[in-house]
Amino acid sequence: MTRILVIGATSAIVEQCLRIWANRGDTLYLVARNEERLTTISADLEVRGAANVHSYCMDLNDIYAHTDMFDAAEVAMGSIDTVLIAYGTLSNQAACERSVEETIAELSTNALSTISLLTHIANRFEARRAGTIAVISSVAGDKGRASNYVYGSAKALVTAFTSGLRQRLHKFNVAVVTIKPGFVDTPMTAPFKKGLLWAKPSNVAEKIVRAIDLRKDEVYVPAFWWVAMLVIKVMPNKIFKKTIF
Ligand SMILES: NC(=O)c1ccc[n+]([C@@H]2O[C@H](COP(=O)([O-])OP(=O)(O)OC[C@H]3O[C@@H](n4cnc5c(N)ncnc54)[C@H](OP(=O)(O)O)[C@@H]3O)[C@@H](O)[C@H]2O)c1
Repeated sequence: MTRILVIGATSAIVEQCLRIWANRGDTLYLVARNEERLTTISADLEVRGAANVHSYCMDLNDIYAHTDMFDAAEVAMGSIDTVLIAYGTLSNQAACERSVEETIAELSTNALSTISLLTHIANRFEARRAGTIAVISSVAGDKGRASNYVYGSAKALVTAFTSGLRQRLHKFNVAVVTIKPGFVDTPMTAPFKKGLLWAKPSNVAEKIVRAIDLRKDEVYVPAFWWVAMLVIKVMPNKIFKKTIF
């Protein structure tokens, strides 16, 4: 039985991960800001076989409340074995271009608050010399593109931060798993037309759970995004700046 703290537990991708963990009989501590959804998801996970399900309601942008949340999770579960950080907002790129405040707010939600959480949990796991930290970043963080570079920069910050954290924590037996999904059909991407490149949350969740089990360093989900992003990353700027994707 693993004790898993899930931060951003009402995400569509995470809900599918939670179902897998509940089927295995794990103990789950769910953190999200929508109390009603938290209650519904918790009840469902109990029926699916979770050993115990706890929940904690908070807006994750409230970084000064992060310590209390970690303390509460440790008290409720006895200890924390694994943390999955998975919340986010898909920034309105056009609105960010018009407003510095909007840009800063998006960077706060998608990067700075995550970095606060990572710092707290890293220090706790380092002291214990055990633990797995998993974070959902994005392929969008691999290269800034005109259509979503505010969201992409936030994810780039998360990816770079977790890379450094992984190296720092390696000698303390703490794994840091950076997960980079491509396009996934969730409420976040509801307005977009779906096509061949789109994955279902349940498929992505299976791969995320497997990557966490194996304490992988960095995974693209689905895996073909590794090749797609490699092509985009090595594309000379002379060509890249004229493309429209
Ligand atoms: N869908 C994709 O194509 C895709 C691709 C790459 C990466 N990702 C990443 O995958 C993760 C999960 O997203 P998803 O696709 O599953 O979308 P989703 O279902 O819309 O989930 C996003 C979650 O983030 C929560 N959230 C946002 N701001 C929050 C805050 N300040 N405090 C607490 N919770 C907050 C939302 O809560 P509310 O419901 O209460 O607003 C929602 O539960 C995100 O990090 C996202 O950036 C998604």
